[in-house]
Amino acid sequence: ALVSLRQLLDYAAEHGFAVPAFNVSNMEQVQAIMQAADACDSPVIMQGSAGANRYAGEVFLRHLIVAAVEQYPHIPVVMHRDHGPTPDICAQAIQSGFSSVMMDGSLLEDMKTPASFEYNVNVTRTVVNMAHACGVSVEGEIGCLGSLESEVNEAAATEDSSAQQDHSQLLTDPEEAVEFVKQTQVDALAVAIGTSHGAYKFSKPPTGEVLVISRLKTLQQRLPNTYFVMHGSSSVPQDWLKIINDYGGDIPQTYGVPVDEIVEGIKYGVRKVNIDTDLRMASTGAIRRYLAQPENASDLDARKIYKAARDAMQALCQERYQAFGSAGHA
Ligand code: G3H
Ligand code: 13P
Ligand code: ZN
Repeated sequence: ALVSLRQLLDYAAEHGFAVPAFNVSNMEQVQAIMQAADACDSPVIMQGSAGANRYAGEVFLRHLIVAAVEQYPHIPVVMHRDHGPTPDICAQAIQSGFSSVMMDGSLLEDMKTPASFEYNVNVTRTVVNMAHACGVSVEGEIGCLGSLESEVNEAAATEDSSAQQDHSQLLTDPEEAVEFVKQTQVDALAVAIGTSHGAYKFSKPPTGEVLVISRLKTLQQRLPNTYFVMHGSSSVPQDWLKIINDYGGDIPQTYGVPVDEIVEGIKYGVRKVNIDTDLRMASTGAIRRYLAQPENASDLDARKIYKAARDAMQALCQERYQAFGSAGHA
């Protein structure tokens, strides 16, 4: 059944687990996520970005998720709009049936320029007022993720004192977070604790802590009833990186967020964990490997290619449901 983010995260908080929120833009991803959830009895969050809308079209994207709900009536599914840039765009998602929207007011409409606190409160509160009138949940964001600046972000997550300045800029300020939640009444809050979007998060292998868990602890002490969201939570599996490169890819060495650090974060209030890059890696790796096999060289049935991708994504999803503790809670 389609449920709101608030409904699902209330339950997750009660039972101390988090739910992976997978980005989707095609049928095979949706099916992989659902097959994995069905196999391990997990609730599901699927989210569509602006890029997904551009690729699939909002109507197709929405109906793929509706199809998932129909096919698996026993699994709670949140249909979430990822990184809504304006209240108007969030309103559109609410109107078309999404059960949850993110108003990302940490950035201006261009989704590049950091916004003021006042702007963020303003746009987010506008969306909360609309959404709550319709039973739809809202995720807000306070603090700026390292974004594509993986080097800056990496500095933020080290103990290196020369990085102190960037460090504080990239981490969510607890005072601001408290004030933001109070003024907006968001259902979930995306926080910056050392993650960044995309495959290039860290250039060195993780030794010790790469996230700033201490900041998360402070945030939870100040906001014990707020559900935190971790964006940029792909783990960049090294086995998939190797498969991609073994079969003709050319991806520079890079590292993601170790799964056990996400699990640590779940102890301090993280309830939604955003993952896109890992599914991209599994599907790209599986397709490259499938096509490189001599026995598949004369094959023209593209469904076999898509299936290789779907199977790889399903295995990855299942690992995340198990690790984050949502397995067994559908
Ligand atoms: O938040 C970023 C997600 O990874 C979506 O990426 O805009 O390429 O669909 P995208
Ligand atoms: P990754 O790029 O780490 O998968 O993060 C995705 C994300 O945060 C989507 O909002
Ligand atoms: Zn994100």
